[in-house]
Amino acid sequence: MPHVAVIPGDGIGREVLDEGLKVLRALDARHGLDLRFTHLPYGADRYLSTGLTITPEEMAGLREYDAVYLGALGDPRVPSNVHAKDILLGMRFQLDLYINLRPCVLLDERYCPLKDRRPEDVRFTVFRENTEGLYTGIGGQFKRDTADEVAIEAELNTRKGVERIIRAAFEHARSRGLKRVCMSDKSNAMRHGHDLWQRVFKLVAAEYPTIKASHLYVDALVMEMVRAPDRFDVIVTNNLFGDIVTDLGAQIQGGIGLAASGNLNPEAGIGMFEPVHGSAPDIAGQGLANPLAAVLSAGMMLSWLGHVELERQIEDAVRVALNDGLVTRELGGSLSTSQVGDAIVAILSR
Ligand code: NAD
Ligand code: IPM
Ligand code: MN
Repeated sequence: MPHVAVIPGDGIGREVLDEGLKVLRALDARHGLDLRFTHLPYGADRYLSTGLTITPEEMAGLREYDAVYLGALGDPRVPSNVHAKDILLGMRFQLDLYINLRPCVLLDERYCPLKDRRPEDVRFTVFRENTEGLYTGIGGQFKRDTADEVAIEAELNTRKGVERIIRAAFEHARSRGLKRVCMSDKSNAMRHGHDLWQRVFKLVAAEYPTIKASHLYVDALVMEMVRAPDRFDVIVTNNLFGDIVTDLGAQIQGGIGLAASGNLNPEAGIGMFEPVHGSAPDIAGQGLANPLAAVLSAGMMLSWLGHVELERQIEDAVRVALNDGLVTRELGGSLSTSQVGDAIVAILSR
């Protein structure tokens, strides 16, 4: 019985996860998946009422599940964002979820902001390094709140960390018959860390002679994602660049409400699935949030749990909903969050 930890989190995280769970339960009823869900209350409400973000025992407890399904973390009442750092970045770091897999797939050309681009033009996957880079908090402040203040944020790049994410990108390409892997860094300016990326990329690429390995500086990458997204199959990059380029990727695939992701450590068998978007406090609680990113993330989770075919069914159902205009307001539709969830369930049961 696959056991899924459900962490709705904050803001629209809770609203969109309700719809993802609706879809999962419908598929479960139909296919006898025997899914078991345990809701965990980690988020701003609990932090504000108890002072707890996530305890070390709770973090360790997450290893017992077959997957974690997360909404979003971030709340204006917690300006320090400490709970999101402890819970979200905590999971990525402490559970060593080194792959942040972010597919950028255009399901319906009408939602693409790029002129004359069709689904076959926007179909790549970003491998975002997820456990180091500029996200570790290494650094410090000196002479805080004085005119002489200094703030240092160090970028951590380890040989092991860089190698495993690059290898994962090539393995993904190899196993799916994809021909191109592009690594993106800023080695023209960042001479130590990103030189390591350059050297490791060349070494790993040499092991995959049938895959075309290329490189773009990240400023050129974002330009090319807009100008010629069809030149990419797999993009591999560091933690911060991966964060930024996947919000751009979300737009070219039809909007932030459609971008799904998985945070994975295949060797340890731990996977956490979440929409790329945040808690959107500006629209929270109004039934306006697009749940499709959460629904597609649930599809990625089912695939991780062994039901590859069901991920395809979910993607097909989302394609139908998009085609029929069964979408929320930001995509030009008039459906509420829960009506979109209902529509997906109805399409799946046809
Ligand atoms: P955001 O993704 O929450 O929102 C950006 C914009 O996109 C907003 O206008 C929002 O209304 C819109 N949007 C986002 N998701 C949408 C959806 N499903 N449907 C329709 N519109 C949607 O990013 P932000 O405003 O920069 O961040 C808000 C909070 O979320 C912050 O606290 C941030 O740190 C946090 N955050 C968390 C995660 C995560 O938990 N993985 C990811 C990103 C941001
Ligand atoms: C994301 C988010 C997070 C990140 C924030 C909330 C720390 O933007 O998952 O894309 O930067 O990784
Ligand atoms: Mn982000």
